[in-house]
Amino acid sequence: MKKIITVVGARPQFVKVGPISAALKEYPNLKEIILHTGQHFDDNMSDIFFRELNLPLPDVSLGISGGSHGEQTAAMLVGIEVALKRESPDLVLVYGDTNSTLAGAIAASKLNIPIAHVEAGLRSFNRKMPEEINRIVTDQLSTLLFTPSQTADDNLAREGIKNTAIFQVGDVMHDAVLKNIERAEDSSHSLLQKLALKTKDYFMLTLHRAENTDDDDRLSLLVDEILDIASTHHILFPIHPRTRLALTRIARLEQVEEHLDVVSPLGYLNTLSLLKNASLLLTDSGGMQKEAMFLRTPCITLRNETEWIETLTDGANCLYDNTAVPLRDLVSLQSKREHNFDAYPYGQGDTARKVCQKLGTFLKMT
Ligand code: UD1
Repeated sequence: MKKIITVVGARPQFVKVGPISAALKEYPNLKEIILHTGQHFDDNMSDIFFRELNLPLPDVSLGISGGSHGEQTAAMLVGIEVALKRESPDLVLVYGDTNSTLAGAIAASKLNIPIAHVEAGLRSFNRKMPEEINRIVTDQLSTLLFTPSQTADDNLAREGIKNTAIFQVGDVMHDAVLKNIERAEDSSHSLLQKLALKTKDYFMLTLHRAENTDDDDRLSLLVDEILDIASTHHILFPIHPRTRLALTRIARLEQVEEHLDVVSPLGYLNTLSLLKNASLLLTDSGGMQKEAMFLRTPCITLRNETEWIETLTDGANCLYDNTAVPLRDLVSLQSKREHNFDAYPYGQGDTARKVCQKLGTFLKMT
């Protein structure tokens, strides 16, 4: 019997686990243990994803959240190390670029346990982002690197990672969208009615990146620009807990609540259906830039750069660099532009199968 420990902790990781965990079940001689660090803990940031995606409940829950980066990552490292020593897995599987990813990779590497990283090779080339540090370190420590694109492969090659360790498999979030969109759409009619929204008659906004929320000036400028858009467009804004705290800090939460349709964070199925029915997405989320492209909703990314550069190529996505064009002008450009959503730069939705085949070979199960 072989054993994999999957380390997760933050919302986007639960979505990625869905298709891969299901595909891993095809191996009768493999046991997957899910370790949840606790980084995200509210029902609507964590448990709802396990329910909606039918994920196996975590076997190990560390309950570690909040604190500074050092405090959070250090506490996770201690907890994960204890679990790895107890379970002695054959491999540790990590996803994306959060502090939970980093802690999983460091703990495993110190115990000489092989690491597989799903979503390897992404780079923003902005080391002020905590996620960029997490990605670089995790990739350097990983044994198997599963990348979504040629760009990611090239990034890894530049950092001296051997190409025999790199497997281009596409993006597992595409698998997740294809697998769940029908279920999501089944409820969309009543959801739109409940929220008094009409198809393609509203914008969706998400905002939570540290680079936007931790800098008071940058956040205030974004609020000004978004309020300007809200004077002519209905904006649905599921608000991340970090952003609620940040808007309270700069004393602008009330104003935002007055002019935007602010709702609590949404589960995965509601996010997909509301995104599909929106006429435009404004976001700083990595995952939602791609989900918008998969669902054919034009996107503006509220950042100066993106790791998912293929989304920019055919106009599905564009960047809001606050020094260039005002957001209002960009909104009208991006709304009118011809979009090509047919390029499928991140695979055909068969990423989970490819990842599991490679894992099977590595663990000598096939
Ligand atoms: C983390 C990731 C980010 C990812 C995002 C997805 C890192 C460095 N960042 O950012 O890359 O895009 O998750 O959402 O790992 N909080 C709650 N309830 C929750 C979750 C968080 O109140 O369920 C609070 C925390 O206590 C903290 C703040 O929100 O005060 C930020 O949470 P944290 O997990 O540190 O980072 P995220 O901003 O969610």
